[in-house]
Amino acid sequence: MFPGATPPIAIRLFNVKKHFKDRDVEALGGVDLEVAQGEFLSLIGPSGSGKSTLLELLGDIGDEGGATEGEILIEGKTPQELRRSKGYGIVFQDSTLFPWYRVFENCLLPFRIAKSELPKEEQAKRIESLLEMVGLDRKFWPYYPKELSGGMQQRVAIVRALVLDPPLLLMDEPFGALDDLTRKSMQMLLLDIWSKTRKTIIMVTHSISEACFMSDRVVVLSHRPGRVVRLIPIPLDRPRERSMTETKAFARICGMVREALGSGGGSEEDTSIKE
Ligand SMILES: Nc1ncnc2c1ncn2[C@@H]1O[C@H](COP(=O)(O)OP(=O)(O)OP(=O)(O)O)[C@@H](O)[C@H]1O
Ligand SMILES: [Mg+2]
Repeated sequence: MFPGATPPIAIRLFNVKKHFKDRDVEALGGVDLEVAQGEFLSLIGPSGSGKSTLLELLGDIGDEGGATEGEILIEGKTPQELRRSKGYGIVFQDSTLFPWYRVFENCLLPFRIAKSELPKEEQAKRIESLLEMVGLDRKFWPYYPKELSGGMQQRVAIVRALVLDPPLLLMDEPFGALDDLTRKSMQMLLLDIWSKTRKTIIMVTHSISEACFMSDRVVVLSHRPGRVVRLIPIPLDRPRERSMTETKAFARICGMVREALGSGGGSEEDTSIKE
């Protein structure tokens, strides 16, 4: 692509609504959004604004079917087609690793589920290079998840999401359960992975500073039923450096997100939103 050229659109959401019939809950009230290929996009909004629901719709993993109304296209595919073609990886707040499998076996699972025809040695090579990329020392590869720290478990979960090399990574509060220091180092790690792999990333977070520090754009959702209140571009240079969070420009950007949350996406009392 030519420098400055606009990257193609990877994801289009048109008036996406979700009504959970069994509980009669209107979770999403008509979401319109376009995400560019290779973009790092964060979703922020009050608790219950439908952030996880939106990721579930993109990944076609909801237990109540797809969108009630509207249209979702990802790389020209419906969410169902995307799931069948293993077109995305997903990471949750809890690593959701299988406790009875070691690190390496957990990372092999996507190959098994996909009935991959990639030769076993190639599968092992790919896992090894990803485990190296996330900085998990070899010593820990034969460990069971419970023998790892929270940060290490999330590293493994990220590897597992990437082994099939999908173009899209969905992340639902991936660092929400980590302590502050580990969280910051995981943010740098994810930015590094993103710059090396150029995946499209959609990350849900409750942290204003995390969203602003990492993303190209921040999507602020309203109270339930969730709608896009504002789309805020983050004009900070890449690669991002921690010192950027000390600048006035950064404080101004965080202020814009906070204001958008206050004007429909949350309130000062909303304890789910962190600075
Ligand atoms: N499977 C389901 N069945 C019925 N209602 C659901 C289901 N999943 C979510 N909901 C409802 O939809 C609304 C949005 O939930 P969702 O989990 O998407 O919010 P969220 O923005 O991710 O919240 P949080 O920040 O607390 O994680 C909530 O009112 C929730 O109770
Ligand atoms: Mg959620």
